[in-house]
Amino acid sequence: MARITYVNGRYALHDHAMVHVEDRGYQFADAVYEVLPVAGGRIHHLDRHLARLERSLAALTIAWPVRPPVLPLILRRVVELNRVRDGVLYLQISRGVAPRNHLFPSDTPASLVVSAWPHKGASAEQVEKGVSVVTRPDQRWKRPDIKTVGLLPNLLARQSAKEAGAYEAWLVDESGCVTEGSATNAFIIARDGALLTHPDDGRVLGGVTRSNVLELARRLGVEVGERPFTVAEALAAREAFVSGTTIMVLPVTRIDGQPVGEGRPGPLTLHLRTLYQEAPPPVTKPRAIVFDWDNTLVDSWNCIQESYNMTFRHFGMPEWDMTETQANVAASLRDSFPQMFGERWLEAKEVFSRSFESIHLAHLRPLPGATEMLRVLRDEGIHLSVVSNKRGGFLRKEAGVLGWTEYFGALIGANDAIADKPAAAPVILALQGSGIEPGAGVWFAGDSPIDMHCAVNSGCVPVLMRSDPPRPGEFDAHPPVYHLENCASMVTLVRELAVPISTI
Ligand SMILES: Cc1ncc(COP(=O)(O)O)c(C=O)c1O
Repeated sequence: MARITYVNGRYALHDHAMVHVEDRGYQFADAVYEVLPVAGGRIHHLDRHLARLERSLAALTIAWPVRPPVLPLILRRVVELNRVRDGVLYLQISRGVAPRNHLFPSDTPASLVVSAWPHKGASAEQVEKGVSVVTRPDQRWKRPDIKTVGLLPNLLARQSAKEAGAYEAWLVDESGCVTEGSATNAFIIARDGALLTHPDDGRVLGGVTRSNVLELARRLGVEVGERPFTVAEALAAREAFVSGTTIMVLPVTRIDGQPVGEGRPGPLTLHLRTLYQEAPPPVTKPRAIVFDWDNTLVDSWNCIQESYNMTFRHFGMPEWDMTETQANVAASLRDSFPQMFGERWLEAKEVFSRSFESIHLAHLRPLPGATEMLRVLRDEGIHLSVVSNKRGGFLRKEAGVLGWTEYFGALIGANDAIADKPAAAPVILALQGSGIEPGAGVWFAGDSPIDMHCAVNSGCVPVLMRSDPPRPGEFDAHPPVYHLENCASMVTLVRELAVPISTI
């Protein structure tokens, strides 16, 4: 299978994926990067990596090469195209291509490169025996918190560690304290049982794995000290380990040739590693929820079935029973009717709309608990909106009749955006003006595969909300992250997440 790499708007064969010789990343290391874990085909910790990327770009005043909500779509596409199940995703953003000059170019778009490849992580032997580290002077510039591609001191340290027979170099500052590894964060479990790591104070890279591990340890009740530790403290420690995206938590059993503790991987280190491995990505309270409408918030199958059958009767076509209706209705009329009615699809759309209009308000019923759920979610400060493939006019009228209009920042129906669900366009429109971008902080809740597909297309978290369990194969293409049986379950879940917690 050909490997594909994204370069500035093109998905290119990897061997042909090139940047210009005057790309400032190439000439000056004027670029930032991220390495994200892919597990089971999903990108993990996306929000945390994107938040760090945003900080790196802001620190160097490099502009986003694409609109931020678009980036996760590109990342997912690269993972899909390369069929990576377990591996890494690499992205690099440089200040762009310009004639060589130390001064920043004006009006030059930033360059974006994204690639992905399978990666197995740490080997069984490394985990069982632990790895050794050597200490080396920290010779980096004073802003290692910015994840730039200017990694020369890191490379020299890593190479020197390898030549000394070690896995990693621990970088030591002028006061004799370990800042971090050349490509990992450094931790010890001190004699008193406290887990120590250098503070994220601008002198280390704020590792995503580091933050996750600290959260995990705190939840286990371990005393965590974000304070520098000396090489002497490390040599006297009970346990030591390094953390990073590809290796997760990896025991360190030797420092400068001397054993740590008993020279074996420590129990807390191994426990943290196991928990980390089993952990799904942290789940936090959503900032926004985008709801599908029909049969997610309102009970409309009878009305939909009747409107279809009124249309079929008009054309002398066979009618649908409820099973057929539920199996066939998902896409918007503009997407589904041309196939069903051929050249007469516009006429059919008219008949359907008239039929629907004549009966929909009489049939309108909220699903049990829906009004209460909307109130609770709104009171929790969650931005609510609707993306439906029902015509926008009908949708907004129904919301008005139910007294729900005030709950929603936007009610987006078919034809309101440039494309309909499952395209990302209506979700982007639904969140416009909320200050929230589609992404890991936004849930898309719906009852059908097209809703899960739309969630994935727009980079949101797919949440299935309906009483029926998924049928075999129904959600294979775009599996939901949660299945909630009803509106009350949504309330319970969000309340549990009221304090941002993680399921790890
Ligand atoms: C210097 C340095 N420290 C720490 C890390 C670990 O960061 P993360 O856990 O986000 O992979 C890296 C990763 O590249 C790194 O280069």
